[in-house]
Amino acid sequence: MTALVPSDRSYDPSDRWFQDAVFYEVLVRGFYDANDDGTGDLAGLRAKLDYLQWLGIDCLWLLPFCPSPMRDGGYDVSDFFNVHPDYGTLGELVGLLEDAHRRGIRVIADLVINHTSDQHPWFAESRSSRTNPKADWYVWNDDDQRWPEARVVFTDVERSNWTWDDVRQQYYWHRFYSHQPDLNYDNPEVVEAMFEVVRFWLDLGFDGFRLDAVPYLYQRDGTSGEHLPETHAFIRRLRKQLDAEYSGRVLLAEANGWPADVADYFGDGDECHLCFHFPLMPRLFMAVRREHRFPITEILSQTPELPDGCQWAIFLRNHDELTLEQVTDEERDYLFAEYAKDPRMKRHMGIGRRLAPLLDGDRRLAELLYSLLLSLPGSPVLYYGDELLMGDNIYLGDRDSVRTPMQWSPDRNGGFSRADFAQLYLPPLMDPVYGFGAVNVEAQLRNPGSFLHWIRGMLVQRRSLPVLGIGNIELLDCPNPAVLAFVRWGEVADVSLAAPDGLGPPAVMPTVAAVPVEPADVARTVPAEHGAPGAARTRFQAVLCVHNLSRFAQPVQLDLAGWAGRRPVEVLGRVSFAPIGPEPYSLALGPHGYLWFDLVEPAWAESDPS
Ligand code: NOJ
Repeated sequence: MTALVPSDRSYDPSDRWFQDAVFYEVLVRGFYDANDDGTGDLAGLRAKLDYLQWLGIDCLWLLPFCPSPMRDGGYDVSDFFNVHPDYGTLGELVGLLEDAHRRGIRVIADLVINHTSDQHPWFAESRSSRTNPKADWYVWNDDDQRWPEARVVFTDVERSNWTWDDVRQQYYWHRFYSHQPDLNYDNPEVVEAMFEVVRFWLDLGFDGFRLDAVPYLYQRDGTSGEHLPETHAFIRRLRKQLDAEYSGRVLLAEANGWPADVADYFGDGDECHLCFHFPLMPRLFMAVRREHRFPITEILSQTPELPDGCQWAIFLRNHDELTLEQVTDEERDYLFAEYAKDPRMKRHMGIGRRLAPLLDGDRRLAELLYSLLLSLPGSPVLYYGDELLMGDNIYLGDRDSVRTPMQWSPDRNGGFSRADFAQLYLPPLMDPVYGFGAVNVEAQLRNPGSFLHWIRGMLVQRRSLPVLGIGNIELLDCPNPAVLAFVRWGEVADVSLAAPDGLGPPAVMPTVAAVPVEPADVARTVPAEHGAPGAARTRFQAVLCVHNLSRFAQPVQLDLAGWAGRRPVEVLGRVSFAPIGPEPYSLALGPHGYLWFDLVEPAWAESDPS
């Protein structure tokens, strides 16, 4: 089964497309309502592909869209082989996939692999007796004392991982809500059933999966029930099937753990293609509040090398709380004190807020964090609405605080839906700061200085610097702890960079005359070693990225002796700076400033007239 390969020249044909892709996480329910029933749908998402293509993302990640009682945002699946009727039909889903592919956009699905809803027919059958054909499809026990070492994930709402079932007169095991019983992966029939699910969605045209809650598939006595060897064996089997029948499709692990544990989900390059880097995220927020690079450099130093053909997935915010599971108690207290001043902002073991309100609406800080996200090693994953700096609603329950409707315009319901307000799945934001009157796509498209245009321009820049995707990182030592500086370097395909004079046409930020929504016009590049057709020559590329984590201007002296002879050319304006010599290189950065420099080779730099 081959993936749909469109003729669009911007479609990256390499199997390693994900290594420098920009992902966009989207809540179908919250994006755009095409049939005016108050809930976003697949037809609505399809109608907005123009926008996403213009924004310049490479891959959509769809949050769960299968039938579900919706007690956990669809992570409580009641039928793995269909689409929730509120979102449309399988036919509409195929239409969406085809249209996205034609535009060079890939699409991955959330695969809720660990558990089902208690409304799933499999569970109904399993609980009905101890002898029915699916009796062992879930994890049952006579008492609730087994596996005490396994932590409860939603500590604020669940007291135990066991819940009593009156029907079967036994306890069943669940790592999340009690209405989400865990499947029993020790039963080969369950494994086979899940492979069938996987084949079903890949055959429809999905480009891969985010593997939800993948560390918890198995339970073993005397262990925490996370990251077990049996789980890795299962993933290897899954990967084998992808490699054999669905090349180019990817697995992205949602494994919230310490980098060394999470790196195991890459295996030897024979498990997941991508893993979320969970511990980096809270440390970005910590570093900007402490105005100190240590939280970031420390976690990077603990991050193992990637096996060949793998990549981290890095993010600022997502559909869940800003999880604080991977920090110390002291760090958690600090982050709660800084970012969740109102106790209503807390959710599970984290903070239920979006990016902009977390940053007190500070645009400079938002730009700084995105600059880090787009230049640190990993494929960036954006969360819908954060490209507008949308706000949140902490008065909504659970994580609905960050799942309100996308704000398209200042019109009724923020242009999300023409249904009656009372019919909407959640109320759109209407406050004076973040409400749809103030923050919406239409207004930001018309304003060339908007955050939306800024981020779109940054994605254009990132695409022109492929080393940011797959390059190595050298952290630079510098005496000022408020500054984080690093060089991304490595071989890249020699197709996208400036003319041989090295200073060629300025890669200007895009501007907008009226409200045009047209495809990004920058060719995607594929490193030659990744086997892309036509990309035979490679060249060495080095990009220096400097970030001021402080709210005040900062001087910095960088030890760039290893790069002596090269000339830094600032990426956004193509302005050439003084060549690097053996002595420390001095720069000044404005409050929360950031600079990216192409470190141009001496031969190119010589032709600079300045
Ligand atoms: C992780 C998902 O991101 C979260 O939203 C969900 O509640 C749990 N898995 C349970 O499926």
